[in-house]
Amino acid sequence: MSQCRWPSSPWPAHGGQAEALLAHFGLPADHRLEDFSANLNPLGPPAWVSDWLTKQLTGLERYPAPDYSTARQAIAAHHQVQPEQVLLTNGGAEAIFLAAAVHAGKRAAIITPSFGEYARACRAHRLTVTEIALPAPHFTLDIDALLAGLNDIDVLFLCRPNNPTATLIDISTMEALLDHSAATGCHVVVDEAFIDMVGEAPQQATLAPLLARYSHLTLLHSMTKFYTLPGLRLGYMLAASATIKAAEAYQPAWSVNHLAAELVAPLLKDDAFARRTQRWLASERPRVAQVLTELGLDVVPSQACFFLIRPSAAQEITTDALFEQLLRQGILVRHSHNFAGLNGEWLSGAARRTCQPAVS
Ligand SMILES: Cc1ncc(COP(=O)(O)O)c(C=O)c1O
Repeated sequence: MSQCRWPSSPWPAHGGQAEALLAHFGLPADHRLEDFSANLNPLGPPAWVSDWLTKQLTGLERYPAPDYSTARQAIAAHHQVQPEQVLLTNGGAEAIFLAAAVHAGKRAAIITPSFGEYARACRAHRLTVTEIALPAPHFTLDIDALLAGLNDIDVLFLCRPNNPTATLIDISTMEALLDHSAATGCHVVVDEAFIDMVGEAPQQATLAPLLARYSHLTLLHSMTKFYTLPGLRLGYMLAASATIKAAEAYQPAWSVNHLAAELVAPLLKDDAFARRTQRWLASERPRVAQVLTELGLDVVPSQACFFLIRPSAAQEITTDALFEQLLRQGILVRHSHNFAGLNGEWLSGAARRTCQPAVS
């Protein structure tokens, strides 16, 4: 596939960051752009959130209760676990770093390509990292090969559904992995940041019910994706109470601000918003996949709100050229230059409400 025409350093490490890309391609800072690069729910935030936040502003004059008991109880009830199995975090990103901190200095494996913060968190906490690569173009997991490689590993990080491939390891495969890793003493950290965006039966997709059976399982959640609140920062960790205690020891006091913490319970109560999002995704996901395929692109089947695509072998355009063409047409997608295993050959784009991909 395509060769990267640029050294990897100018490519921003996360979605968005349009300014740097526009400057890089010599486009004016006010070039009109639709941002397809951040994997956020386009239906959010729920309409009531902004008035609700305004009413909570007086609470900014006090420190939040350090144990966040109201939010913890709401999350525990939502997942039918004990409040001691919940740690509220400043976004899923903080949960990732706390999960790595618990295993500081040990041996980690990361299933790649995946979100780069697992490797960064492992480096920050001095874990040695082995990458277990899912092969393109389907990025499916060979469970036997994975199990064979886990004997010398203390903690495995994986993401389901996975960012950026949008693939989902099914629950029976996860059970096989958890049975095996229990026997070898390997802790399993599963990032479920996009789990609420999974197809047919999202309530059955989370591994939360497995926490009762597997004390070496840690789940990481983001509430910023599904509720479209990336600027507010909200996430949590679910695990055995001993793991939560260990993670909590690394968390700065009052890490989650008052507005975010108070918002947890009302967000989780908003079933109508969740149902609307899941209905929209159920109809939009196949439609966008079909449009992208008809444009001649290779499309990895998606179980999330985003798609991993590349020009097919028949198309005479490199991935970088396609990225630039889209940018010039006002469409910002996510490059893959800093995703281990993708090497810039793929692009990722989120489903949007007005999704009309304009690839020629
Ligand atoms: C897989 C994954 N996990 C976690 C996060 C971090 O989410 P948050 O914004 O809640 O920190 C992201 C953000 O892009 C992500 O893609």
